[in-house]
Amino acid sequence: MSAVPVQPVSPGAASPGAASPGAEISVQVQTLDYFFGQGDLRKQVLFNINLELHRGQIVIMTGPSGSGKTTLLTLIGALRSATTGSLRVLGQELVGLGNRQLVEVRRNIGFIFQAHNLFESLTAAQNVEMAVELTGNLRQKRQRATAILENVGLGDRVDYKPAALSGGQKQRVAIARALVNQPQLILADEPTAALDKQSGRDVVTLMQQLAQEQGCTILMVTHDNRILDVADRIINLVDGRLESDTNPQQFVEAHTVKSLDHNMFVM
Ligand SMILES: Nc1ncnc2c1ncn2[C@@H]1O[C@H](COP(=O)(O)OP(=O)(O)O)[C@@H](O)[C@H]1O
Ligand SMILES: [Mg+2]
Repeated sequence: MSAVPVQPVSPGAASPGAASPGAEISVQVQTLDYFFGQGDLRKQVLFNINLELHRGQIVIMTGPSGSGKTTLLTLIGALRSATTGSLRVLGQELVGLGNRQLVEVRRNIGFIFQAHNLFESLTAAQNVEMAVELTGNLRQKRQRATAILENVGLGDRVDYKPAALSGGQKQRVAIARALVNQPQLILADEPTAALDKQSGRDVVTLMQQLAQEQGCTILMVTHDNRILDVADRIINLVDGRLESDTNPQQFVEAHTVKSLDHNMFVM
């Protein structure tokens, strides 16, 4: 992977998004707009998005329903094509790429969705093996699948089908599948939405741990206030615009009733 030059940071303007000198950038979005539909139905859903994600960072994206979070995630994940601005992912410019090239980019990305998207007719191990097959590494697929399933605490469930697993276990299979090829970037869209509190916590702790071990970057969409503390940064998307970029402490302070009361009092 070729390193992308780091933008100079002006003194005093340090934000959680600001690069330390030499930091490697996994994702760099510049002046990105996105539209759905054609003609009269054409509707802009993303407006002038500028964003940099650094290697090893865990970034949480929040925002109201319909604000464009999934759209931005799927653009970064090369699941749909961007036509404006610049979108550099793992050293590759995506704007202007054809379908076949976008597929290549996707191979370096692990996806985790709200619905786990497992194949019901396949066992946990077979679901993970399918991801290994994409790399052409057929001989070790069983071994690699079982190893990562052990990592996510499912060593005793490798030959179970999804119907025989709990919601949290299914989501852990999906995580194992996303991580088995050691992607440099993980994109997760509300991965804990369908889980109870403890399973949700277990799932993000696991992602955090595996991300640290494998040194990958994670961008995770979530509405789940209970897991904000795993983030190095929180970005907030409102009506298709990036509204704020803070660390979790600042975010909590800015969004609690207590701090609102405090601000009113100071005024
Ligand atoms: N395939 C699509 N075709 C047309 N409009 C869409 C499509 N997908 C999403 N939208 C619209 O784009 C906006 C952003 O949607 P989305 O990215 O799914 O938001 P979020 O994930 O934040 O809830 C919404 O107004 C939604 O209705
Ligand atoms: Mg969404």
